[in-house]
This record gives sequence, structure tokens and C-alpha cells, in this order.
Amino acid sequence: MAVDIRALADLEPQELERAAHILVQAFAEMAPAAWPTMAEARQEVKECMDSQYLALAAMDDSELVGWIGARPQYDGHVWELHPLAVAVDHQRRGIGRALVQALEAEVRLRDADTIILGTDDEAGWTSAANTNLYGCVWQHIRELRNLKNHPFAFYQRLGFEVVGLLPDANGPGKPDIMMAKSVKNTR
Ligand SMILES: CC(C)(COP(=O)(O)OP(=O)(O)OC[C@H]1O[C@@H](n2cnc3c(N)ncnc32)[C@H](O)[C@@H]1OP(=O)(O)O)[C@@H](O)C(=O)NCCC(=O)NCCS
Repeated sequence: MAVDIRALADLEPQELERAAHILVQAFAEMAPAAWPTMAEARQEVKECMDSQYLALAAMDDSELVGWIGARPQYDGHVWELHPLAVAVDHQRRGIGRALVQALEAEVRLRDADTIILGTDDEAGWTSAANTNLYGCVWQHIRELRNLKNHPFAFYQRLGFEVVGLLPDANGPGKPDIMMAKSVKNTR
């Protein structure tokens, strides 16, 4: 599916409201604690439009269907991807991939080396959830399995690697899966 990628900051107020709605809706099942309310989602949209951050929107026939944000870290060598959401009724049509690829191109232009992200497992969707990870983190990474539709597998499809597990990041047995990708190798 071909989508038009634009800066989130260029969108009209009603589309920014839709950006907040997409965030609440897309994370409701997988990570219900992420943006449970429109007020929290609106705040995230606002923060992502800060001039030092990057925020890109995917438009299908002038309708917002997904968006992505990122912020610089480590003096700009690394950009943290956060957040990424595709409207529930537009998922699995290549929009997430288009947004990540557009973000990669933008951070490459800024001479960054790496994109990192953390993808939480709050709902027991992977083999790393509901278990004590201490003492065997690397074994759990090696044997990581997707038990439902956890997005770590989406990021793997796009060339990201699992580089860590943060035990209990969202409470006992709810880890964050840390992933990274070099933007230099894809030049
Ligand atoms: C995860 C998400 C961004 C993916 O976007 P999408 O537009 O549905 O994904 P795409 O259609 O671009 O998928 C690209 C590839 O990844 C695969 N894929 C997508 N979601 C996947 C998942 N949850 N598990 C496994 N593979 C997945 C697709 O099948 C496709 O495979 P291909 O290379 O064989 O074509 C989207 O489903 C979403 O917004 N989910 C809810 C919020 C979320 O999880 N955000 C990320 C949290 S860090």
C-alpha cells in the first residue's frame, strides 16, 4: 500500500486528534498501560512535535492511518523510536514498514548510526513474560518466541535485533524487549 509520509507537525488539528486516538486504540490490547486515555495520548502527540524530535505521519488519501516518533540520544548517534502506531483497521498493509523506513532515512540524513526501541510485553505475548529473567537473560533472548502477535517480530522483519531484555520493566513478569538496528549498514 502506497502512503504519503508527512511531518506530523504539518497536520491539521483534527488529524492530530486522530493521531492521539490511533495511539489509544492501537495499544489498548497489547499495552493497556501505555496510553489509556486521550489526555495522555494528546500529551504524547504534543511532545513528539517538539522541534528536536522527529514525528512522521502516514496519510492514505489525506486520512491519517499511522504515525511514528523518535528522539535523539547519545549526542545524536542514536535515535530512540517511540512511539509507532498504525490504525487498527489499516494494519498489515505495509504502513508500519513505510513509517520505519521513512524514519530510517531521516535519521540517516542526520548522520546517526543506530535506531533503538523498547517494545514492552505487558500482556504475556512472548516467552520472556511471566518468568524470572535474572541470571538467564541471554538464554531468554536466544529462545525468544512470539506467543501471540507481539510486535518484536515486526521489527525483526525490518532488520532490528533483540539486544536486551529489561526484567519487570512494567511490573513483575512484564519485561521490555530492547531492539536496535544500524542505519549505516543499510546505506
Ligand atoms: C506493530 C505495527 C506498527 C505494525 O504495523 P503494520 O502496518 O501492521 O505492519 P506491516 O504491514 O508494515 O508489516 C511489515 C511486516 O511485518 C509483519 N508483521 C506486522 N506485524 C507483525 C506482528 N505483530 N507479528 C509478526 N509479524 C508482523 C508483516 O506481516 C509484514 O511481513 P512481511 O515482511 O512478510 O511483509 C502495528 O501492528 C501496530 O500499530 N500495532 C499496535 C501498536 C504497536 O504494537 N506498536 C509498536 C510497539 S513498540
